[in-house]
Amino acid sequence: MALLKRRTEGAEVDFDHLPRHVAIIMDGNGRWAKRRGLPRTAGHAAGAENFRTIATYCKDIGLEYLTVYAFSTENWKRPAEEVSAIMGLLRKYLLEAIGRMERDRVKMRFLGDLSPLDPELQALCRQTEEISTHYEGCQVNICLNYGGRDELLRAARAFARDCVAGEKAPEDLTETDFGGYLFSAGVPDPDLVIRPSGELRISNFLLWQSAYAEFYFTDVLWPDFSKEELHKALAAYQGRSRRFGGV
Ligand code: IPE
Ligand code: IPE
Ligand code: MG
Repeated sequence: MALLKRRTEGAEVDFDHLPRHVAIIMDGNGRWAKRRGLPRTAGHAAGAENFRTIATYCKDIGLEYLTVYAFSTENWKRPAEEVSAIMGLLRKYLLEAIGRMERDRVKMRFLGDLSPLDPELQALCRQTEEISTHYEGCQVNICLNYGGRDELLRAARAFARDCVAGEKAPEDLTETDFGGYLFSAGVPDPDLVIRPSGELRISNFLLWQSAYAEFYFTDVLWPDFSKEELHKALAAYQGRSRRFGGV
């Protein structure tokens, strides 16, 4: 990492003190395409390509966890052609990722309810998770058909079932136990949540997990969110003082 230490484009980053977990709301694909007079699907293709670049870079700099919001529980409201284009891009990405996995050694996990997805796509998701279980590189979590409220409801239902079964008691539930019922079980909370595209909202992303995350918003659209933009976000994070309610 020493080589990377001093000058980085965009902003100066201390690579010895990176956040452990960075989460990104990959937003702005549609506007990126519109500005170029292209169909929205072209924006999704450019966004998918950028995801590849940024995920690889995060692995290279030694980030431990990268979580990306790829498709929300609300994104089904979009026109069917757009939804199927996004799913098609995901399929293409996973097929390529499987071919490269031995080399990349990125650990992949999917957060969200995959059951409404095409069975072939579900199988590809499971396959990439299985192949990479023992990889030690950066863990990339892809939020797919993910919604923070949906995740919390599912956790509440699962906990209630365990209580009914006599395995758990309501008064014993701790924050740590509850975290174990979430899609993100075992993943530390994000330290930094980045939202490109200029929107200043969380859009149902990691509601429980981001309780004490630092937020970074930028007007740059996701397909244009380069390594330099990531450096700016990391440098901003490194300039913050996290107190977690203390002094
Ligand atoms: C994010 O880009 C991709 C998904 C939500 C799947 P958008 O498609 O939301 O892009 P904008 O916000 O319309 O520009
Ligand atoms: C959030 O972006 C979801 C993803 C990036 C996958 P949206 O574009 O769906 O969010 P809103 O509708 O602007 O809040
Ligand atoms: Mg959007």
